[in-house]
Amino acid sequence: MTDAAASGTFTIGGDLQVNRLGYGAMRITGDGVWGPPADHDRAIGVLRRALELGIDFIDTADSYGPEVSEDLIAEALHPYPDGLLIATKGGLTRTGPGQWPRNGRPEHLRRACEGSLRRLSVDRIDLYQLHSPDGDVPYEESVGALKDLQEEGKIRHIGVSNVSVEQLEQAREMVEVVTVQNRFNLTNRGSEEVLEACERHGIGFIPWFPLAAGDLAKPGGPVAEAAERHDATPGQVALAWLLHRSPNILPIPGTGSPEHLEENVAAGALSLEDDELRQLDAAG
Ligand SMILES: NC(=O)c1ccc[n+]([C@@H]2O[C@H](COP(=O)([O-])OP(=O)(O)OC[C@H]3O[C@@H](n4cnc5c(N)ncnc54)[C@H](OP(=O)(O)O)[C@@H]3O)[C@@H](O)[C@H]2O)c1
Repeated sequence: MTDAAASGTFTIGGDLQVNRLGYGAMRITGDGVWGPPADHDRAIGVLRRALELGIDFIDTADSYGPEVSEDLIAEALHPYPDGLLIATKGGLTRTGPGQWPRNGRPEHLRRACEGSLRRLSVDRIDLYQLHSPDGDVPYEESVGALKDLQEEGKIRHIGVSNVSVEQLEQAREMVEVVTVQNRFNLTNRGSEEVLEACERHGIGFIPWFPLAAGDLAKPGGPVAEAAERHDATPGQVALAWLLHRSPNILPIPGTGSPEHLEENVAAGALSLEDDELRQLDAAG
């Protein structure tokens, strides 16, 4: 059984050390990230198994369900063991399955954060992330709301998500940003420059949708070939590539399946050869 510690560690915000391979808790809800999971006990089991496998970094959001993911985390894991980092987010609302309207207004973010504190049963959220900029609200107003919540002691560290380099810099002028969560994987490298900015500033970079390998995983493709050589799955190669790509990268593959969870954690021990990495880098 591979432990998540095989993926190495990263220290978030100078004081929160986590194993680099974490867990995304978006997939333990109903279809379309809406409502309760089809099998409640299985979802609880996945969360508990994650900790047994050495995962000490779980990502969630008030909008996953909505509320369902945070409720399940508290039910499965509270009282939380020392060293477990539960990161949540606010800034998106839900109007139905697959629908995610943004709301970055300060009063909404305050209500969202207070709801997460209550559901997670904590006095302070260790890592609170602004889920997305809201085009209808100046970004500094949204970031300012998180700054206020931090000053009040409700948030320990602040992260941002779905940002450009400019938005990251705008946030960094107001608060210490310790993580960025953007879409990034083998087939989508649109956030290379944001990743580089994170490396320059010692910020953790949390790539969402980390398992995607697209056409690269087709027979004869570089992911399929590396997977075959290492007796691994394409998803494991995708995660291993992310872990090799930058020491700041903290992948959070999401699953509602205990078997997939084990497989994803095992990717932390998968060592790719230099020429494989070069090929995968170039394939993007
Ligand atoms: N900040 C944002 O805007 C944002 C957006 C999206 C996601 N996120 C976060 O990022 C996390 C990861 O993103 P994601 O869930 O979209 O993408 P992902 O982790 O790359 O992929 C999850 C999908 O892959 C399947 N899967 C997982 N492990 C597998 C395996 N070993 N073999 C085969 N299939 C597997 C899952 O289904 P099964 O359940 O059947 O395994 C699920 O359909 C989320 O949980 C969430 O915390 C953030």
